[in-house]
Amino acid sequence: MGFKGRFLNVYFFITFITFFFVAVYALNTVSAEDVANSCIACHSKPGFRITNKKIYNYFLDWELSVHAREGVTCADCHRGNPDRTDKEEAHGKDIKQLLSPVEYEQISLMCGRCHKANAENYKKTRHYKILIKTGRLHPTPTCINCHGSINTSIPKPDTLTNICSHCHNAVTENHPEIPSLASYLVERLSFINSYYSHLKSKGLLEKSPDFSKAVDNELLGLAQLWHTLELDKIQEKTLNIRSMMLKKGKELRQAE
Ligand code: HEC
Ligand code: HEC
Ligand code: HEC
Ligand code: HEC
Ligand code: HEC
Repeated sequence: MGFKGRFLNVYFFITFITFFFVAVYALNTVSAEDVANSCIACHSKPGFRITNKKIYNYFLDWELSVHAREGVTCADCHRGNPDRTDKEEAHGKDIKQLLSPVEYEQISLMCGRCHKANAENYKKTRHYKILIKTGRLHPTPTCINCHGSINTSIPKPDTLTNICSHCHNAVTENHPEIPSLASYLVERLSFINSYYSHLKSKGLLEKSPDFSKAVDNELLGLAQLWHTLELDKIQEKTLNIRSMMLKKGKELRQAE
């Protein structure tokens, strides 16, 4: 390589480094105009695609979530101060410390601020009792193992089998029947939900407001019951709602 080539390489290198630091500096503050929510204003900067892909992915995850749709933002779960434009001030003491609301042991309390009934029931489980006794030493599932952390969803049967069989299996001899039973139950639940939508979409339920109200109540009760993990009771309730739905479907078909 000639002198000129080497010079150009050094020149490009210096330019690159300068741009990099300018870019990184720019990623540590946001302008006062977009402080409607500094967490989002800063974390959504495309520069993070390059400098910190990992944290950028959390933003992308949020952008697609039910929580974003419902106006639940970063600080609702993480705390921090979304009115401050400077990173350190916005993060405050909440983002890194062990008492952060998204720290393993705090998660169910944080989610439970908004999802009270489910969190109260979750607290009755062996899982939670073990969690508060042994913490990270013997981790048991919390809300995010079943739902994900930001872009949450209702667990699919296969997902549930995978999660539960981690600990409940023939080798551990810790209730090895649980994974297939849990996944059987969410399969029935998803059948109920799609059958219900089907009846609704055909306009068949418009004349049966009492039935709709009763089903909505039962479904809400079932969702809450799920969080106790009392699988025998969940099974009984699931199969009852399923029969209720099938019976109504039959009645409606005969009336057509
Ligand atoms: C001006 C930019 C900026 C603002 C404002 C900002 N952040 Fe950050 N955030 C970052 C950067 C950069 C990182 C990567 C780690 C670091 O540099 O501290 C980060 C990291 C994080 C992390 C990961 C924790 C870690 O230590 O890696 C969380 C969680 C987080 N931010 C949440 C928030 C919340 C909640 C708000 C609003 C209250 C917020 N951020 C406001 C730039 C910002
Ligand atoms: C519904 C609650 C919720 C919302 C809303 C939410 N987060 Fe989180 N976030 C969590 C939980 C729980 C964790 C910890 C589990 C994990 O890492 O998946 C987490 C983890 C993170 C992490 C990694 C933490 C670390 O220490 O590495 C970052 C970064 C982050 N969130 C950024 C954000 C940003 C930015 C927003 C808004 C755009 C946001 N989160 C919105 C619940 C939430
Ligand atoms: C600041 C309030 C708030 C916090 C904190 C919060 N959520 Fe939510 N969440 C909502 C709202 C509002 C909805 C949409 C309405 C609804 O379904 O209740 C929602 C919806 C959901 C849903 C239903 C998703 C679907 O597809 O139907 C799940 C599951 C969920 N959240 C789990 C969590 C978990 C897990 C956490 C903690 C990591 C959490 N939420 C923290 C407010 C919150
Ligand atoms: C990280 C390990 C771990 C995972 C993953 C796990 N569990 Fe557990 N589970 C435990 C431990 C430990 C116990 C307590 C066993 C005992 O007391 O004998 C337990 C107990 C239970 C019990 C019995 C509760 C009681 O009161 O006797 C049920 C039901 C249960 N788990 C359901 C599930 C379901 C459903 C899943 C999947 C979503 C799951 N578990 C995933 C560790 C786990
Ligand atoms: C063992 C897995 C599991 C764990 C752990 C779990 N959930 Fe759920 N969750 C489910 C299932 C399954 C459903 C769907 C139940 C239904 O619709 O009948 C559900 C439904 C929900 C819903 C939507 C229905 C509703 O009530 O609005 C929310 C919100 C929710 N869970 C929040 C939480 C929170 C908060 C925690 C932690 C305190 C948590 N879940 C822990 C399995 C779990």
